[in-house]
Amino acid sequence: MKRFLDLISEEMKKAFEASGYDRELGKVTLSNRPDLCEYQCNGAMAGAKLYKKAPIMIAGDVAECCKGSDVFLSVEAVAPGFLNLKVKESFIKDYLLQMCQQEKFGLDMPEHPSRIIVDYGGPNVAKPLHVGHLRSGVIGESIKRIARYAGHEVIGDIHLGDWGLQMGLIITELKERQPELVYFDESYQGEYPQEAPFTISELEEIYPTASSKSKEDAAYKERAMDATFKLQSGVRGYRALWDHIIRVSVADLKKNYENLNVEFDLWKGESDVHDVIPGMVEYMKKEGYAHISEGALVVDVKEETDTKEIPPCMILKSDGASLYNTTDLATIMERMREYHPDRMIYLTDKRQELYFEQVFRCARKTKLVDPETELLHIGFGTMNGKDGKPFKTREGGVMRLETLIKEINDEMYRKITDNRQVDEEEARQTAKIVALSAIKYGDLSNQASKDYIFDIDKFTSFEGDTGPYILYTIVRIKSILNKIREQGGKVEGTVLREADSESEKALMLQLAGFNAMMETAYEETAPHKICAYIYELANAFNRFYHETKIVTEENEEKKSGWVALLLLTRDVLETCIHVLGFSAPERM
Ligand code: ARG
Repeated sequence: MKRFLDLISEEMKKAFEASGYDRELGKVTLSNRPDLCEYQCNGAMAGAKLYKKAPIMIAGDVAECCKGSDVFLSVEAVAPGFLNLKVKESFIKDYLLQMCQQEKFGLDMPEHPSRIIVDYGGPNVAKPLHVGHLRSGVIGESIKRIARYAGHEVIGDIHLGDWGLQMGLIITELKERQPELVYFDESYQGEYPQEAPFTISELEEIYPTASSKSKEDAAYKERAMDATFKLQSGVRGYRALWDHIIRVSVADLKKNYENLNVEFDLWKGESDVHDVIPGMVEYMKKEGYAHISEGALVVDVKEETDTKEIPPCMILKSDGASLYNTTDLATIMERMREYHPDRMIYLTDKRQELYFEQVFRCARKTKLVDPETELLHIGFGTMNGKDGKPFKTREGGVMRLETLIKEINDEMYRKITDNRQVDEEEARQTAKIVALSAIKYGDLSNQASKDYIFDIDKFTSFEGDTGPYILYTIVRIKSILNKIREQGGKVEGTVLREADSESEKALMLQLAGFNAMMETAYEETAPHKICAYIYELANAFNRFYHETKIVTEENEEKKSGWVALLLLTRDVLETCIHVLGFSAPERM
């Protein structure tokens, strides 16, 4: 279905043409003076030079030509030559009727859907999720859902950090504590126990301990490196322990991501490409892409047009060990082989920007990807506390994601039960749903690349540009519909009618902008555009609601039209929040 604004532009272009001017001057935009008009066209201003004519004359000609139009209610030529436009209620109604009848409210589906891999989350096994991991999961999930909604084939991959030195560190610390474990007995031939020799909480304590020990004790670090090497070269007992670490850790990660409404299609990790690295290295050497520099194997990736220094991409360290780069490149190679995606999108902190620049250049230069394969890194900013510094616990430590979520759940529960008698179980459930909207909307409503301040009071507020406000609006609509149902009123099968108030018209116009907004959100991988849209939509709805007595309306036809409008508003809002990765409760 054509974009609403394009249809209006089309009508204006016809009028320019019919008045003897270049049709391209007829481009229409949203009004920047909403008090005067709904849309505007500045084409007459641009045409003045071209036609050596006062802009107001051109505008006058065009306005004259618009008389009798099915689209415009009024076209005013105002000094010095602007065209102020208002759209006919019937035209908006017809557009919304079509939206209601079509799938996805008339959003055009791509003729050739792209296959897209979204690489997000990226937690490291055995390290607890902390607030730093929030953004990648939240933004990535939304980008995945937007692309899917826009009709593309999308695969979300968590890309676990499950292969590096941190694994060797854990194994070393375990050996230190329990040297008698069968995993360390090199002569052992039998089956290893099913049960892991640690719990998730032990694991989460073991890693930081091992990590700080290795920083102080060179011999310890040496042992950890050796353990990493043994693991990677396939020593049985080490592999069995590693399996336990992954299983215990992944079970915990799944629980955490489930609470965040984040779901991955693939739970692959760095370890999955271990076996393809030697082949890739061989290929890069044979084709002459890689060369030895100071003992290490590197690929030069700098280009003549660079204005800053882009260091070579290191493939193997001088001791032959692979790096973070190596696994990423091998993963790209595997993804091409298995899925042949048109596009890969990575979500990490923007401090990895240079890193991805190197990796992408290297992948292109070594032809791991096709020339037309798109590689996109979305680097996001930091989540800061109210003091403007990276978010910390009150004690100044790194906050676990679980703790953060719990704090917001509790705050939401407090707000929901404040001064009210509510069922405890239901209130907990609702608090959880609303809290998630507070967290996600608080994050997603900012442009991803910017830092933002995580402000619990603001994010959990039912007023203003927040998730709870959006949910509150949806719940309000649901409750009006319920009331009408209880009265025996008709809800299903109702049909939209023309607006008969300013606020109703404004709401309808906002709804008509849905597909253009969604297309842009996809093209620009910009969830914040959806947030801005639903905030405006919720405002438009609430204005209409405050001015209109819907439930007590006696004119059945009018009431039925409003019910249809409510349904459409609810459905568009719910679709948008679903794409953002949260949902609305039935009541709150
Ligand atoms: N595990 C990595 C980290 O903690 C993030 C992974 C991002 N994805 C990737 N393909 N490199 O920094």
